[in-house]
Amino acid sequence: MSESERLRLAVIIGSTRSGRFGPTVAGWFAAKARRRADLEVDLIDLAEAGLPQNLTDQDEPVPPQVRALAPRLTAADAFAVVTPEYNRSFPAPLKTAIDWYYEEWQAKPVTFVAYGRESGGLHAIGQLREIFTELNAVAIRDAICLPRYWDLFAADGSWPKPTADCNAAAATALDRLSWWAHALRDARARRPYGT
Ligand SMILES: Cc1cc2nc3c(=O)[nH]c(=O)nc-3n(C[C@H](O)[C@H](O)[C@H](O)COP(=O)(O)O)c2cc1C
Repeated sequence: MSESERLRLAVIIGSTRSGRFGPTVAGWFAAKARRRADLEVDLIDLAEAGLPQNLTDQDEPVPPQVRALAPRLTAADAFAVVTPEYNRSFPAPLKTAIDWYYEEWQAKPVTFVAYGRESGGLHAIGQLREIFTELNAVAIRDAICLPRYWDLFAADGSWPKPTADCNAAAATALDRLSWWAHALRDARARRPYGT
């Protein structure tokens, strides 16, 4: 597959908390994606992006951190949002990051990799689906939930165990995300979204 045919997948680390587990989850998923010949992965860490907490008004200049991240989101053909569950939802900095952008999300597929206690981030995913639908993105059916993710540590300290169900779930989600990303990239090339 040629360089230009490869899909660009942005994997977004939605947790910015100190001591967070998010980078471990995102690193695992990004590594799985990088093993595929059809995907080129950009790992975006919201803790590093440092987006301002307060949105600006339309006539104000766009903050430099927001401008800096925009081309990476624009370049993406697909997104994987890696999120923990906090109080039956997802972290506030992730919502702010989503709200800073608009066209960057639209007519592109999104999957979710969520983790937490017993619910495995299911509530966070449900809410993110609604938000990305509002942004004209396509939240695909296949997502990954990791309930009690700490039970998935292998004896040698690696994570997740090679036998964990999430390995197969990640492969399926990537297959389907890739299908949607190809379909929507072709469609965007034929006709810009919203015209
Ligand atoms: C403020 C807060 C609220 C939480 N609420 C939930 C919850 O509602 N459901 C759940 O399954 N886990 C909940 N947890 C557990 C987190 O999902 C778990 O601590 C996870 O490691 C947090 O992700 P992070 O380490 O990447 O920040 C909560 C954790 C925090 C810090």
